[in-house]
Amino acid sequence: MAMVSRMPIFLCILVILISISQSNAQPGFLYHFCINDKGNYSANSTYQNNLNTLLSNLSSNTQIDYGFYNFSYGQESDRVNAIGLCRGDVKPDACRICFNDSKVLLTQLCPNQKEAIGWYDNCMLRYSNRSIFNTMEALPSFSMRNHGNTTDVDQFNQVLRTLLYSLVGQGSSGDSRHKFAAANVSGPGFETIYGLVQCTPDLSEQECTSCLVDAISEIPRCCDSKKGGRVVRPSCNFRYETYPFYTPTNVAIPQAPAPKVSALPPSSTDTLSPEGKSNTSLIVIAIVVPIIAFVILVILILIYLRMRRSREHIEVELENDDEIRSAETLQLDFSTIVAATNNFSDANELGQGGFGPVYKGTLSNGKEVAVKRLSRNSLQGDIEFKNEVLLVAKLQHRNLVKLLGFCLERSERLLVYEFVPNKSLDFFIFDQNRRAQLDWEKRYKIIGGIARGLVYLHEDSRLRIIHRDLKASNILLDAEMHPKISDFGMARLFEVDQTQGNTSRIVGTFGYMAPEYAMHGQFSVKSDVFSFGVLILEIVSGQKNSWVCKGENAGDLLTFTWQNWRGGTASNIVDPTITDGSRNEIMRCIHIALLCVQENVADRPTMASVVLMLNSYSVTLPLPSLPAFFIDSRSFPAIQSEEYNPMAAGASDESNARSVQESINEASITEPFPR
Ligand SMILES: *[C@@H]1O[C@H](CO)[C@@H](O)[C@H](O)[C@H]1NC(C)=O
Ligand SMILES: *[C@@H]1O[C@H](CO)[C@@H](O)[C@H](O)[C@H]1NC(C)=O
Ligand SMILES: *[C@@H]1O[C@H](CO)[C@@H](O)[C@H](O)[C@H]1NC(C)=O
Ligand SMILES: *[C@@H]1O[C@H](CO)[C@@H](O)[C@H](O)[C@H]1NC(C)=O
Ligand SMILES: *[C@@H]1O[C@H](CO)[C@@H](O)[C@H](O)[C@H]1NC(C)=O
Ligand SMILES: *[C@@H]1O[C@H](CO)[C@@H](O)[C@H](O)[C@H]1NC(C)=O
Ligand SMILES: *[C@@H]1O[C@H](CO)[C@@H](O)[C@H](O)[C@H]1NC(C)=O
Ligand SMILES: *[C@@H]1O[C@H](CO)[C@@H](O)[C@H](O)[C@H]1NC(C)=O
Repeated sequence: MAMVSRMPIFLCILVILISISQSNAQPGFLYHFCINDKGNYSANSTYQNNLNTLLSNLSSNTQIDYGFYNFSYGQESDRVNAIGLCRGDVKPDACRICFNDSKVLLTQLCPNQKEAIGWYDNCMLRYSNRSIFNTMEALPSFSMRNHGNTTDVDQFNQVLRTLLYSLVGQGSSGDSRHKFAAANVSGPGFETIYGLVQCTPDLSEQECTSCLVDAISEIPRCCDSKKGGRVVRPSCNFRYETYPFYTPTNVAIPQAPAPKVSALPPSSTDTLSPEGKSNTSLIVIAIVVPIIAFVILVILILIYLRMRRSREHIEVELENDDEIRSAETLQLDFSTIVAATNNFSDANELGQGGFGPVYKGTLSNGKEVAVKRLSRNSLQGDIEFKNEVLLVAKLQHRNLVKLLGFCLERSERLLVYEFVPNKSLDFFIFDQNRRAQLDWEKRYKIIGGIARGLVYLHEDSRLRIIHRDLKASNILLDAEMHPKISDFGMARLFEVDQTQGNTSRIVGTFGYMAPEYAMHGQFSVKSDVFSFGVLILEIVSGQKNSWVCKGENAGDLLTFTWQNWRGGTASNIVDPTITDGSRNEIMRCIHIALLCVQENVADRPTMASVVLMLNSYSVTLPLPSLPAFFIDSRSFPAIQSEEYNPMAAGASDESNARSVQESINEASITEPFPR
């Protein structure tokens, strides 16, 4: 008996050793994805032939001197598109070898899959039957981090941020052959921080910037307080370490091919990705000799642990796009919510939002939540509602209020959010006493946080969300005064078609609305940029946009700011309770705000450029011209109520900030902007 069982174990070990040495011969990807839902091709099909043609062209191509390969081959439904991108400092020879390895491995790992993507340290290869050129794609993506901890976290982050943002500026302004930048700076504790950013050069400068800015905003999630990390997406990636991991070279200067990065073991995917080869051989044997399965498992785990230990400082974390939380885990019983909110008691009511009252609740496990009870005027069916909730729940960013669940029962529609303790921004900035709690440092962080949250909403490739009702009362503050945007995706939950960019139904708040949206119902990410500009000015001045009264100047905040800016007296608009902070930074914020509220949509920056402008002083700002003067009480007799009541200004809370949700008869708003 002992003999019988020892034999297969011996065999197994042999097989495992073989598969390990095999994977060493063919280096594994850092990570790869076979995109299942994009379809399969059959063996010997035209698609396969086209793919092979394209891939052999790729590895034999002599024209990849810029490290970028983009070609298509084939007709119509059998057309294959491929992109190969080498890291900017990798020499053509090494690049070709990397492409050749990728070509072999990717088709092996994703047999018959029409779309696939794989990354080595030196290069990326992706192919698909759909057009993938000139479009920014953020998913699928993965991140890795160095296990070493930084000691002086705050200072490290500050140096890192400055480095990365200046690299974004350099890298994204590269030409159509090259969008790459790398540099080093000295960080705290005699350490040097090395950073690198790269986009596929078919992107526009704007797309590259927003791809990178959004990837960089992942740092707290992937690599907080770590000595190194990277976020890798199809269209862009960045990496930083405290050791040189690239060849400090310029493509123009001939140098030795880049060495393989020694910090990374070549076979890292084998144990980390479920498609690893060793697993496959394992399964086959387990079926043949089921009794042995357990023993093999133990051996494998031991090997896995040993390999893991030897490369302890790198860890792959998946940002799993496929993992959609199912409706079951998000859907809550009505009775649960009745219990949590004490049957929607008045004592639990937190306020009236634009879409119905909001209640504080405590779930049976003690978790505090905010429950939004939607008013019942949605025309949307239950299934659409559910689908939209699932999509909105996928949006997770530390500057967005997290949607935890929903309830759909009888005629009730409820949304359950994480509870954010510190009320909303308007509660502080428009209050004579409480505004003093927000010094400039906090306000500046709030501005930056809102901007990053908006970049995420606007640029996330899965669904571009336009907020449409961004205002101070929709910015919640957590215990550390970090901003969290609420009420995003509400327009989606109320009407199905958001792609149209044109609506007869205005959801928004006067004073924050871009002129083209308020007047013609045209919305775009740039209408949110407008609202964001107004918000910056409110944060800087502590005044509501609707009314400012300072000496002889009375009028809306935009007019007042513009007059002072042009007259060189912009510091007049700064909240006098702000005593800290650099004047430069404050003036730069006002400048950016004025750019955001330009009347011409094209003159407004994207949110990604705003983030870049806020973070990098090396970005020169264009001069603003006259902002859109939208608020004029003469044109809106109907809404002269609370918003325009000077008595209400400065002492407002959410109920005063009127949300407008009715159809606006265009004929009644015909007056052009006053000049
Ligand atoms: C790619 O292939 C899938 C599955 O065969 C198909 O549904 C899709 O329409 C194709 N895309 C293009 C652009 O041909
Ligand atoms: C394609 O093949 C893979 C396995 O080879 C399978 O998991 C997947 O479901 C298939 N996809 C389609 C659309 O048939
Ligand atoms: C594909 O073609 C090769 C040679 O051309 C052949 O050996 C193989 O059997 C074919 N496979 C299928 C599934 O037709
Ligand atoms: C192969 O690459 C060359 C450039 O080296 C290009 O001119 C040619 O069109 C490519 N062929 C295919 C089939 O993509
Ligand atoms: C490409 O890879 C294959 C197999 O890994 C190898 O046989 C071939 O020589 C390589 N070609 C080049 C140009 O490196
Ligand atoms: C870094 O810190 C974490 C928790 O603070 C700890 O678990 C980990 O072991 C530390 N890593 C190193 C390399 O010291
Ligand atoms: C490949 O990229 C270059 C530069 O980005 C561009 O000029 C060219 O048109 C692209 N080729 C294809 C087939 O899209
Ligand atoms: C670090 O940066 C300096 C210039 O700032 C450069 O001269 C040096 O080569 C860089 N070193 C590495 C390893 O990139």
